[in-house]
Amino acid sequence: MSIPEGANTRPTLKIPFHRPSIGPAERDAVMEVLESGWLTTGQRAVDFEEAVRVRVGSAHAVAVNSATAALHLILEALGIQGGDEVVVPTYTFATCGEVCRYLNARPRLADVDPITFNVTAETIEAQLRPETKAIMVVHFGGALAEMEPILELARSHGLPVIEDAAHALPCSRGGRAAGSWGTAGALSFYATKTVTTGEGGMIVTDSAEIANRARSMRLHGLSRDAWKRYTGSGNWYYEIEDAGYKYNLTDVAAAIGLVQLERAESMRLERERVARRYAAAIPAAGLGELVELPAMPGPGEVHAWHLFPLRLNLDRVRLTRAETIERLGEAGIGTSVHFIPLHLHPYYRRTYGYAPDDLPIAKLQYEREISLPIYPDLGDDDVDYVVARLADIVRPR
Ligand SMILES: Cc1ncc(COP(=O)(O)O)c(C=O)c1O
Repeated sequence: MSIPEGANTRPTLKIPFHRPSIGPAERDAVMEVLESGWLTTGQRAVDFEEAVRVRVGSAHAVAVNSATAALHLILEALGIQGGDEVVVPTYTFATCGEVCRYLNARPRLADVDPITFNVTAETIEAQLRPETKAIMVVHFGGALAEMEPILELARSHGLPVIEDAAHALPCSRGGRAAGSWGTAGALSFYATKTVTTGEGGMIVTDSAEIANRARSMRLHGLSRDAWKRYTGSGNWYYEIEDAGYKYNLTDVAAAIGLVQLERAESMRLERERVARRYAAAIPAAGLGELVELPAMPGPGEVHAWHLFPLRLNLDRVRLTRAETIERLGEAGIGTSVHFIPLHLHPYYRRTYGYAPDDLPIAKLQYEREISLPIYPDLGDDDVDYVVARLADIVRPR
């Protein structure tokens, strides 16, 4: 999400920042669940877990009600606790830092690569401390981070790697999906994400230990198959094994997810169409020197294109970033900013004493960034309209 004040995300705009792609198959799937008499976690959630597991290529998948819950449960299963540190990108949403705080651990913020917005082995290494117990990586905007050197660094320090793949379904390199590289991954099915259930998330992992712990802790720490007690196959008896959480995914949401997952690649291709059209039209409109486009995927890379992060060359343009967003809004175009780096927020400054220039690359990229609309139903005419208005508004000094 990450909607700063002043960003234009109103759905009434001519071109809203986001519009979910929901069709008759999703509506039918929901109606079927509503009429079935079973609304909460049940067979649909199990089926959705299996479909995601196969899709990502992991040994286990555990459905939860958000990526935030997924990341929390992964850290919990890894035994992260008070006094521990987790290296977390500063260039991310609130979730990544707060889940560390849930467990009284410290998020140690890492800077990012100036081109991809992703953490690298170098920016992570600079934040390793004796207290470091895990590394968290975000695949920003749906572009896979450089995982090989990160995994090599993690291996050499004996640290688990957690992939925040909230932006990254479907996204892969060499056929290997986001979420299947590290020790465990978290997917998001939030309303604006590439595959949505309104709210929802999933843990993917090859670790039976993490999956089993998360299965119990997502439902009050009850013995593993407790949800079955309401069905014919279940039993009234359960045991509370630990003080858990209420993080389970409903069958209503899972039914939407099953349909969305079937459509994931065709929706991705539509977003790729939008990205390629922006990438060709923006320089063609004379904006080549005034803005920087996001990096295009290299050979063997599949980009999820959750975001299209444009950057202004602030020393060459007449208007500020805020003025540009305002003008685009007046032209009926919704935009957002991804992200306000964590270390710039009052909580992180107050709690850990971060100053803006402590992580200078993230700060600089944030100050230049505007996320343009990108979603499957955005037509070529809409893209052309956005680019035409951009060319009116983004003028040289
Ligand atoms: C990078 C990143 N991680 C995690 C999340 C949290 O996802 P959820 O809303 O499913 O908890 C978001 C949400 O926008 C995100 O952008």
